[in-house]
Amino acid sequence: MGRSFQMFESARAAFRAELARAHLAPTECILLPAYIGWSPREGSGVFDPIAALGLRFEFYPLDLKLRIDVPALERAIEREGARALLLIHYFGRVDESCDCIAALARDAGLLLIEDCAHAMLSDLVGGVCGRLGDAALYSLHKMLPEAGGVLVRNGVEDDGGGANRIWRHDLGAIARRRRQNALRLAELLGGLGGEVEPLWDDLPEGVVPQTWPVRLRYADRNAVYREMNAAGYGVVSLYHTMIAALPRSRFPEAHELSRTILNLPIHQDVDERGLAAIARMLEAVLTVCRV
Ligand SMILES: Cc1ncc(COP(=O)(O)O)c(C=O)c1O
Repeated sequence: MGRSFQMFESARAAFRAELARAHLAPTECILLPAYIGWSPREGSGVFDPIAALGLRFEFYPLDLKLRIDVPALERAIEREGARALLLIHYFGRVDESCDCIAALARDAGLLLIEDCAHAMLSDLVGGVCGRLGDAALYSLHKMLPEAGGVLVRNGVEDDGGGANRIWRHDLGAIARRRRQNALRLAELLGGLGGEVEPLWDDLPEGVVPQTWPVRLRYADRNAVYREMNAAGYGVVSLYHTMIAALPRSRFPEAHELSRTILNLPIHQDVDERGLAAIARMLEAVLTVCRV
């Protein structure tokens, strides 16, 4: 199967280009996962293209582990007007229902876009996503020391769109290192008991995480975030704030996750000592940030 790789300045620009190409009519809508964040500095990488094009949208629900509620999604597809579906492989992980969802999308004739902003290596190295539908998106800076975004179109021959610089990196080695780091960090965090709850209990073959997501249920996440970064450990919270279109009253799980999530670094430049230091610092910070 041919795939075309076209460079953009960002993943959101690639997403916007694919949406514009699809020409959704005013009556048609795109189905979005109900966990999309926003920040004053970055805006919303997922939602801004939808807003900029003035598209109709509806959300489908996810649980606290970001698993898709398939019956609810099926109902959303059956409701009139769905024309496109966005799947986000959060932090590199692929939902176990994705094949079934792709079949539902295919049967309904939907444009299926996989947001692989965090899952570029799960796609390119693991081969476990990115080929379910029509298109996929990468955000290079989230996985590599590179700027830009890529629009991948499946079933289309390579148009030489300038994505070649990605292949200069040893993607296999980077992917292996990220998986090793994730498994080791999970082991190191095991000692912290229920205070640090991993979002995932396992790491299926082929999945290459972007970060290691955990929930802090008994600590002030914002305080932990500040303390960890002040100490030089680059943690993030994807996402710390939901977009306004996802109100707490309708999407309490999304807000609960957003309030408690912390994404720990497992990138290829972190070594065993670095991981141990992250775990130690987190343990120390938690003792002063309990609520
Ligand atoms: C899931 C997801 N998709 C897309 C984007 C947009 O990526 P970029 O910053 O390259 O536009 C982001 C980040 O903002 C993201 O987290």
